[in-house]
Order: sequence, then C-alpha cells, then structure tokens
Amino acid sequence: MEEKQAVPILEMKNITKQFPGVLANENVDLELFHGEVLALLGENGAGKSTLMNILSGLVRPDSGDIILNGKKVDISSPKDAMHLGIGMVHQNFKLVSTMTVAENVILGLDNEKFILDMKEVRKKISGISDHYNLKVDPDSYIWQMSVGEQQRVEILKLIYRGAEILILDEPTAVLTPQESNELNGIVKKMTAEGKSAIFITHKMDEVMEFSDWVRVLQKGKLVSVTRTGDTNPKELANLMVGRDILFRVEKKKSNPGKVILELDKVFALNTKGVDALKKVTFSIRAGEILGIAGVAGNGQRELTEVITGLHKITSGKLVVEGKEMTNKAPLDLIRAGVSHIPSDRVAMGVVGDMSVASNLAMKEYRRAPLTKYGILHPKRIFNMAKGMIELFMIATPSPLTNVKFLSGGNIQKTILAREIGACRGLLIAAYPARGLDVGATESVRKDIIAERDNGKAVLLVSEDLDELISVSDKIAVMSEGKVMGIVDAETADIESLGLMMAGVSLEQSGEKEV
Ligand SMILES: Nc1ncnc2c1ncn2[C@@H]1O[C@H](COP(=O)(O)OP(=O)(O)OP(=O)(O)O)[C@@H](O)[C@H]1O
Ligand SMILES: [Mg+2]
Repeated sequence: MEEKQAVPILEMKNITKQFPGVLANENVDLELFHGEVLALLGENGAGKSTLMNILSGLVRPDSGDIILNGKKVDISSPKDAMHLGIGMVHQNFKLVSTMTVAENVILGLDNEKFILDMKEVRKKISGISDHYNLKVDPDSYIWQMSVGEQQRVEILKLIYRGAEILILDEPTAVLTPQESNELNGIVKKMTAEGKSAIFITHKMDEVMEFSDWVRVLQKGKLVSVTRTGDTNPKELANLMVGRDILFRVEKKKSNPGKVILELDKVFALNTKGVDALKKVTFSIRAGEILGIAGVAGNGQRELTEVITGLHKITSGKLVVEGKEMTNKAPLDLIRAGVSHIPSDRVAMGVVGDMSVASNLAMKEYRRAPLTKYGILHPKRIFNMAKGMIELFMIATPSPLTNVKFLSGGNIQKTILAREIGACRGLLIAAYPARGLDVGATESVRKDIIAERDNGKAVLLVSEDLDELISVSDKIAVMSEGKVMGIVDAETADIESLGLMMAGVSLEQSGEKEV
C-alpha cells in the first residue's frame, strides 16, 4: 500500500534575504508538519536566526512566500505572527528585567480588557505552569531569575498567547543538562497535543533526541533535508561544516609552573543575599587548566565574578600572581592580567552599537601599539581587528560592522578573540563554547589548550562534562557554593563527578583528591 503523503501545516518557499554585505538566506525552502519537531542546523552565520526572524515577523524577506495551512500569509510584524499562532523564543531573550513574570507575559497584548484583571492573568499563568510542568512564580522579577527560569517565562508567554507553532532559537545553549531534559519533556507534551516546533541547536545529541526532521543550512543555502532517523551526528556535523569533526581534543601533559591564582576560604553572597560561595579554596598554576564542574547556579557565576572584580568577597582572600587582589576593581584585575569570557555574552561581553573592531580593541586600547601619547590609532585598531577576524574566523562583512548585526555565534567568537588575545596571565572562561557551531567549538577548545601551553593559567567553567574531562588538567566540582573536591581530569569519570555535583563528598564518590 502506498504511504499517505502528509500535508505540511507551514511552508516557506524560496526565501531570500540580503543584508548589507551578506546574503543571509538564498532561495530557502522549509516544511513543517503537524505535531512534529523540525531541527534547523548550520554553522554560525548560516542564516538560521534570519530565516526564523522572517517567520516571526521581525525581518522582511526580499522575496519568497510563507504558506500556512494551505494559504499564503503576510507576516509583517511579531503581532501578525502571534495572530497566526506563530511564536518565537529568541536567541537573546527579550524580557523586561525590572518587571515581574506576569507583567512580562501580558506586555504588549492588545486584546485584553482595558483594565487587566491581574488575578485572572495569574490564574491562567498557574494553569499553564501546572499543565506543562513549567515551574515559574508569576510574581518573581526577571532580574532575580536564572537564564533557565527566564526561558520558561518566554515559553509560557508564547503558550499564553496561543502559539501553535513554536520557534526555539538555541533554547538549550544556556540551559543545564537537567533543564534541557525538562524542556524536552515540555516540547514532547506540546507536540503530542498537536502543536509543532522548529528548533535551532548546535548540539547533535539533542537533534537526534528532540526532532523528527532535520534541515541544514550552509552559507544561507539549504543543503540537506532528512528524517532524523535516517542520519547521525557525524554525518550532520560534516554536512554543516564540510569536514569531519573530532568530538574530543588531543593535548599533551601539562607542565605547571608558578601559582597564578589563589583563592583562600572565599565567601560571597548571591543577588538574593544568601551565601553563594562557601569557603572556596583552590589554586591554579601557570600552564594548567582547572575545570569547574557543577550544575549552573551552584556558585559558578559568583566564582568567576569575584575573580574578575565584579562581585564582592565577604570574607577570604584572592591572590593573583602573588599580589592580594581581594575586592579590587575590575580594571585592576584586567591590569593584573586577568581575561574574562563571561557567561552572559550580550549583557556583559560586548557593546552592540560599537563596531567589531572597537569591541576587539576594548581591552588592548590602553596599551601601545594601539595608543600613542594617549591617542588611539584607528588604522592600527582596524588592522589588528582584521587579523583577529581572520584568526578566529568571525563572519562579519567588515571590521567596522556593528556587533549587534553579527549572528549569535559570531558575537561569542568576538569575545573569545578579544579575551584570548588580551590574556596575559589568567583566563577565566565561562561556557566558552556556548552558541558555537561544532567546528568553532573544536577550535576554541584547541585555543584554550594552546593558551595553557603558552604558560597561562585557565579556569574553565562548563556544564559539559565531556568538555571538562577532555580540556582540563584538574576538575573542581562545585555544589551549593562549596568545592566538593578536586580531581585529576585524566582519571575522572562522569558518574562520580555527577555524584559530587549532587553534593556527595569526594571520599564517598569514589574519586581521589589530587
Ligand atoms: N540585522 C542584520 N543586519 C545585518 N546583517 C545581519 C543582520 N542579521 C543577521 N545578519 C547577518 O546575516 C548572517 C546570518 O545571520 P544569522 O543570525 O541568521 O545566523 P545563524 O545561523 O543564526 O548563526 P548563529 O549560529 O551564530 O546564531 C550573518 O552573517 C549576520 O551577520
Ligand atoms: Mg542564530
């Protein structure tokens, strides 16, 4: 018997979009079926977000059609998309941080009664949260929330507004593995109820687990369409970057030198006034990478911020290259040779309205050769930026393009280039591969190891235990603000690290202290 051909609920046909200097989408076709998940893959800058921004009404295509349930539609604003049941969670969230969850959910809704019944809104929010197991408190302020919580708010907002087609742009890039699993559960439940989703991710195991179909973009063009069951991670990685990817990096044994960073019984509070770091003590030597393992929210952020002068130490001591630096200003720490790849790249990492070149020069500009007698050399900055753009393969039409026009992964590469380039003693790298495609992930891991081999001390915070084990020399496991133990990366195993992340002591986990 012939198999019945399903009819797509959504089609995008021949979509083309040109930005100044970049053809972001070229005759791209897309089909989405009822109750199914489509994974959209491609290298950083391949045009994934652009295609989805077109679907959600943020970007107008130059040509091409969108067909919804068999009818051609015109989507010229996010409001149009919302009325058609299309909702998108963006790569960089668009919540208002000084407002509560409930206020954000109703923000911009024009079909509500003139005076809103907040009690009703709260009730509806709680109903959705219970139904989908989306744990959020309607009265919490966004600024108090972790990124995982903020993402739940974004999803809740879309469901509240009646989205039937959900677009998730790298939703798991900022989530813990546990949160990713929860999200998986939510998406499964939604598709079982007949909603459909388009999912952008750089994580191959998620593609295999979450999706029914895969489409791969390369430099703006569609290069492959397959059923997920007919492909595998290796093939997908190759389709994206056009070469084989090693999912593990090679490195030689470390050759540690003098102590660069020392933390001695460091305590700090979090934004809610609770102890976030409890008696944290460790040191890192030159030529050594210390990995920090732990579920996000267990003090990692505060740890990287006390070392970079962005967060107050309440007691204890911070020493960099033999000099006490406890509660010194960020600029003093930069001067002491500390580089920082922050976890929140958009809020802390770049200035979107400045050029790629200025963003790259931001740390080096105080020193020769970019400055002479206190005057900046635009030509030198431009040339330096050109070199870094090539070295780090940042996709940008020009060094003078504003950073806000780059794709998510290329913004991350800009930060990596600046921080790795400017690193003189200590590199604090929080989730450096976040948002990077498989090829760029492989190269940033190699770059970090190269820094180590050049005698730098590196603190690497990651949630990816495979990454920690393959890149680090030693691994410290954090749980509830405490270091549970420090182990040798070469002999560490994922299971006992997992136990320690859950608060089990080093001795009971079966690992050995180094
Ligand atoms: N508003 C804009 N103005 C100018 N150029 C843009 C704009 N938005 C995107 N681009 C460019 O279009 C290209 C595709 O970007 P897009 O954000 O779609 O990539 P992506 O596939 O989502 O990449 P990533 O994985 O890094 O998020 C990039 O070269 C980007 O610089
Ligand atoms: Mg993107």
